[in-house]
Amino acid sequence: MPELKLPFLGHGGDYNPDQWRDRPDILAEDIRLMKLAGCNLMSVGIFAWAALEPEEGVYDFDWLQGVLDSLHAAGISAFLATPSGARPAWMSQKYPQVLRVRPDGLRNLHGERHNHCFTSPVYRGFVNRMNAALARRFGSHPAVVGWHISNEYGGECHCEKCQQAFREYLKARYGTLKALNNAWWTGFWSKTYTDWSQLHSPTPLGETGLHGLNLAWRRFVTHQTADFIRAEAEPLRALTPDLPVTTNLMELFDGLDYFELSKELDFASYDSYPRWGGPDDAKTAAAAAFNYDLMRCLKQKPFALMESTPSQVNWQPVCKLKKPGMHLLSSLQAVAHGADTVQYFQWRKSRGGSEKFHGAVVGHSGHEHTRVFRDVQAVGAALERLNGLQGDMPVAEVALLYDLPNRWALDDCQGPRREKHYMDVVLEHYRALKDKGVDVDVIDQMRGFDGYKLIVAPMLYMLRPSAAQRLTEFVKNGGTLVCTAMTGRVDEDDLCFLGGFPGPLREALGIWCEDIDALYDGEENAIDMGGKAYPCIELCDLIHAETARVLGTYEKDFYAGEPCVTRNDLGGGAAWYIATRPCLEFLDDFYKVVFSRAGVVPLIENLPSGVDVCRRGDTLFAMNFTGKPVEITLPEGTNALTGEKLGGATALPVNGVMAVRV
Ligand code: GLA
Ligand code: ZN
Repeated sequence: MPELKLPFLGHGGDYNPDQWRDRPDILAEDIRLMKLAGCNLMSVGIFAWAALEPEEGVYDFDWLQGVLDSLHAAGISAFLATPSGARPAWMSQKYPQVLRVRPDGLRNLHGERHNHCFTSPVYRGFVNRMNAALARRFGSHPAVVGWHISNEYGGECHCEKCQQAFREYLKARYGTLKALNNAWWTGFWSKTYTDWSQLHSPTPLGETGLHGLNLAWRRFVTHQTADFIRAEAEPLRALTPDLPVTTNLMELFDGLDYFELSKELDFASYDSYPRWGGPDDAKTAAAAAFNYDLMRCLKQKPFALMESTPSQVNWQPVCKLKKPGMHLLSSLQAVAHGADTVQYFQWRKSRGGSEKFHGAVVGHSGHEHTRVFRDVQAVGAALERLNGLQGDMPVAEVALLYDLPNRWALDDCQGPRREKHYMDVVLEHYRALKDKGVDVDVIDQMRGFDGYKLIVAPMLYMLRPSAAQRLTEFVKNGGTLVCTAMTGRVDEDDLCFLGGFPGPLREALGIWCEDIDALYDGEENAIDMGGKAYPCIELCDLIHAETARVLGTYEKDFYAGEPCVTRNDLGGGAAWYIATRPCLEFLDDFYKVVFSRAGVVPLIENLPSGVDVCRRGDTLFAMNFTGKPVEITLPEGTNALTGEKLGGATALPVNGVMAVRV
């Protein structure tokens, strides 16, 4: 696999010169401004299909040649995009089968973007010819360092071709209809399938309540998107085997299993749009960090921050400008977590269209005398000072399990309350771990567990094949495992485990869960533990300690006094169970104990909540998202951003960031 090997930390953005082909003056000015902003890497030509193939089979690549030549002459590299994220009107008109069909069977009209059928051989043919032509013409262009294929893959198509592909997928997955019927428990409500042709994607006109089908369809959407990506990349890999391929992924996106999808990519890249300036930047920062850690873990390699805004977006309900310091802080946060680039959407604001007021490096004024431009220059300068970090990875002793099929199944699961808030719970645990001053890997349950001291698996409702056994081994071999309410209910097809929950994790956790109570919104119980009462909400597993020791009990209701927090010592390790959704104060106290027992060593002790720390190579980053000035204790070293000596008690201002070479 070709790697992303940049001789620098990349800095730049989506560059869409196809919008400005009649303004050579602007294209020339772009290059001057890019140099001035410290940019060295642009993503070129995303969504440029109408300019690249104005009529069927007629390619116009000369303008793109000019752009790549100018970039190269200025010492700027490029990710070259394939344009499949949006298609020209002539194509939809002549070949409507390239367009998506909705779940209700109606085919979309031309419009929007990302509106293609991922099975259509006609669309795949167009993409293949376009990509081959681009690779032939530009594959050895000295500016090009990688492929940015399509844009933010997502969505699904329900056309007859996709139904056919779905049936093939099901045949391959289950082998026989009997196995499929069994896995989906179709005996309930007479849903038994007697012929493969009866299978159809979930649709509001037909079936939406068969959980096995819903789950299989979601898996198929990932499978078919991966298949489309393989087809997209095939000519690129054949003609330019040394250029790495990526596509930009989205924040907390549940439409695709990125752990599966990323197998098709050479490196991961990510579009980050946190809502800075809201009521709690520290919470926003933790969610941003979670996504970065996920991106790093997908390929176990640094990723590209492919998009971010240098100022504001235009699609959130309220689009705030970044406060002073936030642009540098938020950009370096991505780098601290493993990004090898900081890139923006977009380089220059569009004059028209739906995103004309989306932040860009160069605004409608067209010059560099703006706060945003100066902020971007500051990031460019900082990246230059951090040069050399690219390729290095944070090394984590702690892993958080985040699993897409688990999320899908849990979101679909009816009872014991509609909203189970899987993502909120995952992010609460993530925040509690990060607040302790450690690096955290974000992995799914199929990844390897070796090398970790602590694995936290919030709401691991679904246990996929071998996961329980590997987690049990992990504990026996000295690891520490933390599980929470709703763990170990179903297998990978959403069939309940028989013989007692948490199913195959019962030995590791040393408990049996007899029942689960649900609380109304606003209703609370509490955990009695260590002489304190910690509020808890939403879900309360009623458990029996088998081999586990009881450390906390419920305070209220008919199960007052019954176990709520347990620890099972097994082999050299321990498995903890938190049977409910506890308050943040509980998690803070809880992880203090867990860390010390598990031997997890913080990068910085006694960190104020909301200061994000990461260690990448020889550099320790400390980033203040608390909204207040704080004091932290740093190791001896040099601030890579300023050259000043640091160490001991150090003031970190609001939105301040330090990068200590230790
Ligand atoms: C996404 C897309 C971009 C642009 C930005 C706006 O990330 O990939 O094309 O629409 O959002 O924030
Ligand atoms: Zn289709």
